[in-house]
Order: sequence, then C-alpha cells, then structure tokens
Amino acid sequence: MSVSFHLAAELDSALQSAAQAAGLESGFAPELRPADPRHGDFQANGALGYAKARRLNPRQVAEQLIGALPPPLRERFDVAIAGPGFVNFTLRPAALLEWVQTHDNAQHLKAGAAALYHGRRYVVDYGSPNTAKQMHVGHIRSIIIGEAICRLLSFCGAEVIRDNHLGDWGTQFGMILHGYRHFLDQAALERDPLEEFERLYKAASAACKADPAALEQARLELVRLQQGDPAAVALWQQVNQLSLDSLNAIYRRLDVHYDHFLGESFYRDKVDAIYRELTATGLAVESQGALVVFHPEHPRFATQPFIVRKSDGASNYASTDLATMAYRVEHFRADGVIVVTDTRQNDHFEQLWLTTRKWFAATGRPQPEFQHVTFGTILGEDGKAIKTRSGDPIKLQDLLNEAEERAFALVTEKSPDLPEAERRDIANAVGLGAVRYADLSQNRSSDYVFSWEKILSFEGNTAPYLLYAVSRIRSIFRKAGLDPADAAATAGATPPETPGELALARKLVGFATVLNLTTTQLRPHFLCTYLFELAGEFSAFYAADKVIVDEAPVRARRLLLCARSLLVLENGLQLLGLRTLARM
Ligand code: ARG
Repeated sequence: MSVSFHLAAELDSALQSAAQAAGLESGFAPELRPADPRHGDFQANGALGYAKARRLNPRQVAEQLIGALPPPLRERFDVAIAGPGFVNFTLRPAALLEWVQTHDNAQHLKAGAAALYHGRRYVVDYGSPNTAKQMHVGHIRSIIIGEAICRLLSFCGAEVIRDNHLGDWGTQFGMILHGYRHFLDQAALERDPLEEFERLYKAASAACKADPAALEQARLELVRLQQGDPAAVALWQQVNQLSLDSLNAIYRRLDVHYDHFLGESFYRDKVDAIYRELTATGLAVESQGALVVFHPEHPRFATQPFIVRKSDGASNYASTDLATMAYRVEHFRADGVIVVTDTRQNDHFEQLWLTTRKWFAATGRPQPEFQHVTFGTILGEDGKAIKTRSGDPIKLQDLLNEAEERAFALVTEKSPDLPEAERRDIANAVGLGAVRYADLSQNRSSDYVFSWEKILSFEGNTAPYLLYAVSRIRSIFRKAGLDPADAAATAGATPPETPGELALARKLVGFATVLNLTTTQLRPHFLCTYLFELAGEFSAFYAADKVIVDEAPVRARRLLLCARSLLVLENGLQLLGLRTLARM
C-alpha cells in the first residue's frame, strides 16, 4: 500500500504535470486548496485565472486538465468540474479505506507528516520569563503555545531546539541585591525563595523611593554586578539558581522540557562584537551617546530608533537579542527562529528582524526564517486582565492547583466509586488539560475570557469533552475484549459505505491537511477545531452505525474507523500537550 499521507501534495504535482501534458503553457498555477480546510477533499481553481487571462473558456481548460490526469489518480478520486471552472477532487471509498489502513500507528502518521519539515532545524524561544519573580497567569500562554509549536514541528519532521531565553540580566538585580543585603528573611527564603525575592524587590523599591541614599546603593549594586564583583555575582547566581529550580518545578508539571536555558546573561560577553559589526557595516550610528539603528524605508522606524547600546554604555534587551540571533544561526545552524511572546513586544521584534536581515546580508551570514509568534491577554470574566480578588496577578502555580482541585471535585461527583488515587490522576489530566486546551483552542492573536465553568465543561470544544471521547473509544474496545492496536480485529475491512462511515473517514484523512495548516500558520487552534469536529463525526457515526455486528467485514471496517479515530485523537491531543486517559 502506498497511498501518501499528504494527498494535497500528491495532487498538486499531478496537476502540474497534467497542465504540461495538456499543452497548457507555463503560467498555469493549479492553486490547490482543501475544499474545506479540515476535510479530506480538495479543489483546484487554477483553470479560472489561466482562462481569464487568455480569453478562453475556463470549463474547457478544466476539461483539458482533467483529461491529462494520470489514470491511477482518476481511480482514487472522483473528479468533477464545478461552477465556472473549479476542479473538485473527492476521495473514493476504496482510497479512503487505503489511507485509513496505511496510517495505522503513530510512527506511520509521523513518517507521513515528516515530509513537511524534514531536514529543517528550528530554535523555538518560549516561556522565557524574567528571573527572580514567580510566574503568574500571564506567563502561561508562551509556555503552552510554544510547547505545542515544538511538538507539532517535531512531529512534522523538523529538528527542534527548545531554548528558554531567561531575562536574567536586567535592572531588577540592583534592587534585589540591595534588598537581599538589608531586608532578607532567611526562613521565608527557605520556604519559598521566589516569594521572598519578590518581597525583597518590593521592599527595596519602597526604600529607594523614600531614601535617595538607598537608591544610590541599589544603583551601585547593579554596577558591581555588571563589573563582575565576585560577591555580587555569587548572589546573582544564587538568585538565578533558585529561580530556575522553581521554574523547573512548573515546567515539569506541564511536561515541558527545555534543551537550553540561554538567558540574556549568556550573551553579555558577546555584545561588543555586535556593536563593532553594526558600526562597521554602517547600520548603527551614535545618537546622543547611544548606539542606534534606523530603518529609513519604514514608516515609524525611520525616526524611532532601535537602541542597541544605551548612552551609559550598558547593553540592553536589543543588544542581547541581536547576539542571540547570531548565536542561533552560527552555533545552532538554525534554519528558522521562532520567538513566542505577547503582542506588546511587536515593535522590538520587528526592529530586531529588520536589523538582523540587513546585518546578516552585509556580513554574509545565512538568512534564517524568523517568526514572532504573538498572543493576546487572558481576561477575567469582567473583561479585564485576569487578577486575584485583591488585585494581584494570579500565580501560575495557584492557577494549576485550582485547576486540579476543581477537576478532582468534578471527577468525584461523576465517579465517586473510583479509588482516590485514580480520581487524582484523572483530575491531573483533566485539570491541566483544560487550562492548556482553553488557551490553545482560541486564535492566539485574540484576548480570551477565562472561565472555570466553561473550560471544565464536558460539552463543547473543551479538554474534558475530548478526553472523554478518547476514553469512550477505549472503552468500546475494552468491552469487546479487543486491543485497538491489534490488526487482526480490523483485517478484511471493506470500504466505508454509510454516511456516518464516509464522513468520519474523510475527516480522518483531513488530519494531514490540518497539520499543514497549523504548522504553516503556527496557530494551534486549527488543530483543536479539527479534533473537536473529529470527535463530533465519531459520535455521529457511533450513534448511527452499530460497531459489533455479526457481518465480519462490516464489523472490521467499523472497528478500523474506531481505532483510527482513537489514534488521531490521542496523537492530536498529545501534540497539544494534553495527557490522554484510558478511562475516566
Ligand atoms: N524575558 C522576556 C519577557 O519576559 C521574553 C523573552 C523573549 N525572548 C527573546 N529572545 N527576547 O517578556
């Protein structure tokens, strides 16, 4: 069996050759698109533009094209002209069966998907919080969206390097060092170091506001640190190590594993070379003591400077990010760099990328692909940025705890007889899954309103609904005494026939299309919508067609559809970072 995973790619190249064979001169672009973005059918609309430009009849062009398609393709697809000259391709039942049979486990799905990014290496910069602070709700989107992007790209064949670009070299350290010397509560430090650092930071800022002498001391602390004073550096290291330990606890909990933690401080000895290069290439100029880059071709950045070195000679966010770009291309040999932050950093990254392109071109470095993946704000039910009752940001750890607690109450209400350990395990998957899925299922560009009731509902496009769909299919196999991975149960399957079987099979084939769409746009909500619709098609099929019937070929094909729905749902949810359950 050799049916390809990406039918769209296969169709596309067949159409190109057909255009040639039919004698259509070059300039014919088939422009294949899915008939529905998440569906297994396709539509080519190239005949239209081609005919229009040459005053030909588009339907005739379409006919010529169809006539030149290779016969094996015609066997697989029903081909029809629609409207003014679209060509519609509908996969035939036997071909649907073939696709569903071929892609029979995670390795085969992955092998098929790998054509998309094979041989490409991406550095993904996500999470990347500032140290010496606890993470709050606002930090979750970068972690969750970034992790899904990493999993998706790597499933689709890319080599992915996960890099946490910690903000570990900022001005916050002057305050913290000052606070550490004057206001430290040792017991509190041992209890919860980050909590204590935040308190120290606040105490130091308050002291600095009230007393200019304190402010001067804090400034000197920062200077000492940047000049490499051993005591200041030791303290800074301690703060960062404690931060890292507490960050790692949350990353582990979210099943996020970084390859590197190359924060801003890692680049501090690499910025001088950047100043030299940018000056030598004429990109950067001195302006009021600072080193800046302007972009004359840009409406705003022609006059709004990109400050790459501050007037006091210190490096800043731009300097370390430029050094980061070079390092990722030179050291990691990245073909692509993806940075995940909220939209407030749009200007910074636009200026960074404009500068990098010119600088790399001038210095003969390869140009990577660069994508700034941005996201909106999480809102409370009052429509404002989500906060605790007292108005503080919600700590990420507290949010995750609450998610698990609420899920535990829910599971206990639904299945009071399960042993507590199992209810806790289910609550962990459902609670954390709900928080993740709520974030990923929204178009990341928009703000979204966070509501516990909505994200923990078993109805609608939610994690509980999808996790339940998975466990339900598993229970079908359990009750039948069968293993979904066992090919014997599905041997002898005949092509889908009923409307429910056909719709479900087409949806399954659409997995390839949706992976392509999700990764090219780096928008996980496409995959979420697809999985939600797949679960819906499964329910409709299961309600209409009895699976365990006497007629062996019918039973085999229905079991096959059950097994593949399970496979795609489980793999899809895992790509989004959710842990699936065998029973709920
Ligand atoms: N530390 C930054 C923040 O908390 C995000 C860093 C993103 N990555 C980068 N290379 N600038 O907003």
